Amino acid sequence: MLQGKKIVLGVCGGIAAYKAAELVRLYVKAGAEVFVIMTAAAREFVTPLTFQTLSGNPVHTELFNLIQEREIGHIALADRADLFVVAPATANLIGKLANGLADDLLSTTLMATRAPVLLAPAMNVNMYENPVYQQNEAKLRAVGYHLLAPVTGFLACGWEGKGKLPEPAAIVEETLRLLTPQDLAGETVLVTAGPTREDIDPVRYLSNRSSGRMGFAVARAARLRGARVVLVAGPTALPVPAGVEVVPVTSAQQMRAAVLARFPEATIVIKAAAVADFRPAQQAPQKIKKKEAELVLSLEKNPDILAELGGEKGGRRLVGFAAETADLGENARKKLMEKNLDLVVANDVSREGAGFDVETNIVRLLFRDGRVEDLPQLSKEEVAHRLLDRVRDLPVPGQ
Ligand code: PMT
Repeated sequence: MLQGKKIVLGVCGGIAAYKAAELVRLYVKAGAEVFVIMTAAAREFVTPLTFQTLSGNPVHTELFNLIQEREIGHIALADRADLFVVAPATANLIGKLANGLADDLLSTTLMATRAPVLLAPAMNVNMYENPVYQQNEAKLRAVGYHLLAPVTGFLACGWEGKGKLPEPAAIVEETLRLLTPQDLAGETVLVTAGPTREDIDPVRYLSNRSSGRMGFAVARAARLRGARVVLVAGPTALPVPAGVEVVPVTSAQQMRAAVLARFPEATIVIKAAAVADFRPAQQAPQKIKKKEAELVLSLEKNPDILAELGGEKGGRRLVGFAAETADLGENARKKLMEKNLDLVVANDVSREGAGFDVETNIVRLLFRDGRVEDLPQLSKEEVAHRLLDRVRDLPVPGQ
């Protein structure tokens, strides 16, 4: 997802410098070209050879090194960045940058770049909370630097508190966001994902095979594109996408209540959840014993959440999914019309590589104006981005 991007990575001298090695590995794996600048203090913790080996590029260390400066000068380094990242960024580096000091290769190159800059500070909690440090951070934010807050935990210095470098994967996610066009900025996207569970007794339930991947991919993609995202999720084992507000639910009735509560603030709704259509009419208060030869469960219908939203959608763009095993187009268009949707994403869940609990999907997009678009088999992340491309361009109902 970072294919063709050039990242200049500054590494300062802190114990978290070792984590920057993993960061370089993840950037390279995602397709980015990485150029590392190390401060003198960083070289006390990790050797340049580590970064050179992982990035495949020479590591830059000296401002006044004639050979390094001739091969690629610090201004050329500053110019080539699509994004300039400093991880870990020390209080010293933040202080220098906030006050316009440029006395080594990293601070000089940072001052010279026009690329967006992401700073990931890591330090002792008392240093982090020091008002002088906080003023420096505020100064940098005010002029457009991006800061990724450190996380709370046990610090190498023995203290516990806020000051740990976020995991490299979280820094990559923020990198991705900063390099993604913010074409959904200003939108609030309400997404549903995963299955619902309908209790039979305290230990058994009815559910389905939804893993939540499709809905989580939509939520993550929308957030990367600048939207505020609320994700109402049934039970899944997936990690929460960074920057997404998750509302966990279990049953269809809980999902309905959560969705209706968050509906007023949404400008776009995308319902990828596989809501159980039925629930046991009675939930046994105790575990049902197996002494009977057979057990008959009586089921009653769950509310159709999407149909309810369609009845009061106002100016929102409303997108549903349709999980079908036959007559894909016909059934999906019926849902589009009956539920008053703007777009329906139909997947034939009987096809290999599509639907429930797999990494990919094969979908057909059906629009309200009669247009139909078939997408090839794609990762669920790619399906999510293609879908959001279309949702972004949908006319706002009533305008
Ligand atoms: O989670 P994954 O493992 O990644 O799998 C993805 C998926 C197969 C779950 C997803 O691609 C998908 O198809 N989601 C919709 C599943 C579904 O319930 O389809 P449906 O045709 O039964 O429902 C149509 C639409 O109405 C859906 O948007 C559904 O969220 C909504 N609905 C359905 C029933 C109900 N009681 N309330 C609803 O809101």
